[in-house]
Amino acid sequence: MAKKMLMEILKHEKVSSNVFRLTLGGKLTAQPGQFVQVAVSKTYDPFLKRPFSVHDCSADTLTLLYRVLGRGTGLLAGKRTGEQLEVVGPLGTAFPVETADRIILVAGGIGSAPLFYLLKSLRAAGKKVTFLYGARSKEELILREQYQMLADEYGEATEDGSCGHHGLVTELVADALDKGRTVLYACGPEAMLRAVAELAKANNCSCYVSLEAHMACGVGACLGCVVANAQGEYVRVCVDGPVFPAREVF
Ligand SMILES: Cc1cc2nc3c(=O)[nH]c(=O)nc-3n(C[C@H](O)[C@H](O)[C@H](O)COP(=O)(O)OP(=O)(O)OC[C@H]3O[C@@H](n4cnc5c(N)ncnc54)[C@H](O)[C@@H]3O)c2cc1C
Ligand code: FES
Repeated sequence: MAKKMLMEILKHEKVSSNVFRLTLGGKLTAQPGQFVQVAVSKTYDPFLKRPFSVHDCSADTLTLLYRVLGRGTGLLAGKRTGEQLEVVGPLGTAFPVETADRIILVAGGIGSAPLFYLLKSLRAAGKKVTFLYGARSKEELILREQYQMLADEYGEATEDGSCGHHGLVTELVADALDKGRTVLYACGPEAMLRAVAELAKANNCSCYVSLEAHMACGVGACLGCVVANAQGEYVRVCVDGPVFPAREVF
């Protein structure tokens, strides 16, 4: 059940030119795929909290990985160790764990954020996991070593060819799929998610995607985050998602 709490910044590290890893102290238990809403200011400006996926979670810490994009994340980047942040969570749906011969996680850029906690949980449960990571360039394969170390199989692709396969990560997915016996979990840009969903459908594999949307309340009340599903009905990314079976939304 979601709760509002003050969490202390235990660690705030810059991990690339515009990405930060933020470790907060407090008891907020979340499942892989869920997210939290963070107040980036103590005033009403900006008014809305900002949503971030759970990057990692333990009994008394919560870690987020975020890219500085606009005003809110810019303010967050200025927060120092010892300061307190108001956090609401855990929110939204988690990645369901399915039994399959093959588990493939597909990350695009900062979309790797929720997949670290999923990868860790699957490995702790003794599952074999392939992690495929794509980005525009090597610099955007954020914290690539931590995925490489944990995964049983690891592949990476960059659009500029600066690291791994020169091309799209979906080209690696196509090679790795095992018809009908694979489950895919993906988070990243919408075009990547659509391509992964199509590959899953063509190969009769299960596939779950984590969607992003502009959010306001984060708890299902304002309808600010709705997207049309495959049947043309509106679903709320904050409570019906962010994790959806791919066939439901594409
Ligand atoms: C469920 C969920 C989980 C998320 N997890 C992460 C995460 O783990 N790490 C991370 O870096 N980011 C994550 N995001 C995105 C993050 O919430 C936004 O980047 C952040 O709210 C931007 O705030 P800002 O004030 O800096 O930008 P703003 O000043 O509000 O906006 C800057 C620009 O970014 C666009 N933008 C802002 N938010 C979104 C959005 N949600 N989708 C598409 N475009 C947007 C705006 O239209 C504008 O052009 C997540 C979003 C959702 C919905
Ligand atoms: S953000 Fe308000 S309904 Fe989803």
